[in-house]
Amino acid sequence: MKNNYYITTPIYYPSASPHMGHAYSSIIADFFARFKRMQGFNVFYLTGTDEHGQKIERAAKEKKKDPLVFCDEISKTFKDLTKTLNLSNDDFIRTTENRHKKSAKNIWNILEKKGEIYLSKYSGWYSVSDEAFYTEEELEIINGSKVSKLSGSTVEWVEEESYFFKLSKWQEPLLKFYSENQDFILPISRKNEVLSFVKSGLKDLSVSRKSFKWGIPVPSNKDHIMYVWLDALTNYLSALNYPDENDKMYKSFWPADLHIIGKDILRFHAVYWPAFLLAADIKPPKRVYGHGWILSGDQKMSKSKGNILDPLQIIDIYGLDALRYYLIKEVSFGNDGNISKEKLENCINSDLANNYGNLCQRVVSFSEKNTNLKISNNITFNEEDKSVLSNYSKNYDKIISFVDNQDINSYINFVVEQLFVANKYFNDQEPWKKKSDLLRLNTIIYTSLELIRKVTILLYPIIPDTSKKVMKIFNLNLNDIKFESIKNDEFIEKDSQINKIGILFKKIVKND
Ligand code: MSP
Repeated sequence: MKNNYYITTPIYYPSASPHMGHAYSSIIADFFARFKRMQGFNVFYLTGTDEHGQKIERAAKEKKKDPLVFCDEISKTFKDLTKTLNLSNDDFIRTTENRHKKSAKNIWNILEKKGEIYLSKYSGWYSVSDEAFYTEEELEIINGSKVSKLSGSTVEWVEEESYFFKLSKWQEPLLKFYSENQDFILPISRKNEVLSFVKSGLKDLSVSRKSFKWGIPVPSNKDHIMYVWLDALTNYLSALNYPDENDKMYKSFWPADLHIIGKDILRFHAVYWPAFLLAADIKPPKRVYGHGWILSGDQKMSKSKGNILDPLQIIDIYGLDALRYYLIKEVSFGNDGNISKEKLENCINSDLANNYGNLCQRVVSFSEKNTNLKISNNITFNEEDKSVLSNYSKNYDKIISFVDNQDINSYINFVVEQLFVANKYFNDQEPWKKKSDLLRLNTIIYTSLELIRKVTILLYPIIPDTSKKVMKIFNLNLNDIKFESIKNDEFIEKDSQINKIGILFKKIVKND
């Protein structure tokens, strides 16, 4: 039985240090990777950096650095960020690595051999910032300069010999592919954008440039550099040791289950990428999810706009798990979202400190005072206990389908609801009034601890460090974080001793 799951982030341009937008794509992908692992899947989670092209060449030149030296430095800051964000990625690919160059050249050779690529001349507009070609209709004049309506970035006129990929030929096969794979593009709103773009007519795509040097040379004509998007997209295959199609990695993980990307790069992933793959006779990925942007004010964060939010600063002040939780809960998945100090502090206080942290502290302190942190052997669930515990077994399949449909919003709503349920259960049962009924007292403590354990498992993909801390209450470790175990109402060892833990999230005192 195939039990493999391949998830990717976009590979980031190392033209400047990482910002919150990059952190967002990676944390989202990490959520899915961690969930699927705890569900028992063999997960391969890939991230990395996209190092070729004019954008990087110019950024290096500005800093008077050799492009590779420049990429080495900035790519390292992205790699370091994977540690800072506690990402569980299995690999970090750089497009300047030989394994990737080999794979990109191979794709090119196949496309050329199959007659999918021809030599001609490109004359049109190009945005170096987006590394994208735009038609006249996709541009507008703002403050006297021609900019893309999609991204707002400026374009320049390019006129040079270029190889073209026969994208126009793939218009109908792509439409057929979308209709046979209804969930290839999510969310649905984005899918409609892509469909109307493809239906409006696809033009052949320029896939090589001659006017700069920083990239992978076209194998059959060294005067040309491969278009950076054809180069970059191939990274998803390179990391699986493509072109060795008999390789275990390739056989286990291709086609990818999920490419997590930002909505700005949907066209490349949902149109060009499957077209290249169909033309090369390689299966397209199963799904592309285009998430929204993290806005700063009401604008997308970018180096050129100078409105960058640094994830490291936020982590320094509030801690990593608070940031991960905020991005997953407060940014409605699929839509744009904002991050502000006030909203972040409210979220830490209400959800993490009050709702979750307090629940854990209350139950453990109560057990400390009344049963000396001992878990009794003698537990008898009544109907009320059974009812709260069964929320998990009853919703087991539903939770999996939330994850498999990338419905993070419903997932987190379920978690928050269960935190309320657990707090309410403990209040309503009033264990402090049951001191003369030890059986009942022990059962309430046990049920409350089971509720904490279960919700902590669901929180693990979101706040892994905190979840691991909480599992220590029950002497459980990472290996015990198994999704299936939420169905078990008597997982915590009886006749055992639980442990106290420190404060999970400090409440932020507001001065106003
Ligand atoms: N190098 C390309 C991707 C190639 S994938 C084969 C690229 N790099 S990028 O560094 O500009 O952006 C990478 C990802 O970060 C994109 O998915 C983009 O949407 C995301 N973010 C960049 N800024 C963002 C926000 N402000 N908010 C959320 N994500 C955004 O594109």
